[in-house]
Amino acid sequence: MILRKVNMEDWPLLLEWRNDIETRNNSHHPEPVAEEDHKRWLNTVLNNPNRHLYIAVDDNEPVGTVRADFEPHTQTYELSWTISPQFRGKGVGKKMVGLLVALLATGAKVRAEVKKGNIASAKIAESAGLSFQKEENNILHYSNYME
Ligand SMILES: CC(C)(COP(=O)(O)OP(=O)(O)OC[C@H]1O[C@@H](n2cnc3c(N)ncnc32)[C@H](O)[C@@H]1OP(=O)(O)O)[C@@H](O)C(=O)NCCC(=O)NCCS
Repeated sequence: MILRKVNMEDWPLLLEWRNDIETRNNSHHPEPVAEEDHKRWLNTVLNNPNRHLYIAVDDNEPVGTVRADFEPHTQTYELSWTISPQFRGKGVGKKMVGLLVALLATGAKVRAEVKKGNIASAKIAESAGLSFQKEENNILHYSNYME
């Protein structure tokens, strides 16, 4: 598996994964995203040097996407991820998020928010070296530092 940077031509694939029902159920914003809003969002992300968006490619197949948003004030990376519906439950999430954390500087502060009940994502966070910190409004907070 490799992580490659996303470019603007990836918008249809990312929109398809974003609007998948399971992805929406596990998102902070469960309503479907419209094409124009999605393109605007992607353009903003790609033009922000603090936001790092990748597609994981395995055997030439795009299998998932992972993002690290750097927050300069707290010097912290917030991670989020989605796996292509047909590649779920095959260890792709664990591998992909592990690869991304390995790309970040040694000792970087990393956090992630997981909806309560999203067992696979909780396991992915732990396997990437993050520990459960607290639960707030049904959101589980994971990080590799004390919050
Ligand atoms: C949640 C999601 C990211 C998991 O990715 P994945 O590649 O399917 O997960 P993996 O195969 O790497 O599995 C990770 C662990 O969770 C377990 N797991 C996988 N699917 C599971 C499920 N539906 N229920 C319970 N456990 C599950 C695996 O057995 C594995 O456990 P292990 O560490 O004990 O071996 C993926 O299903 C997805 O994209 N869902 C929709 C969007 C989403 O939820 N995004 C995350 C928001 S934080």
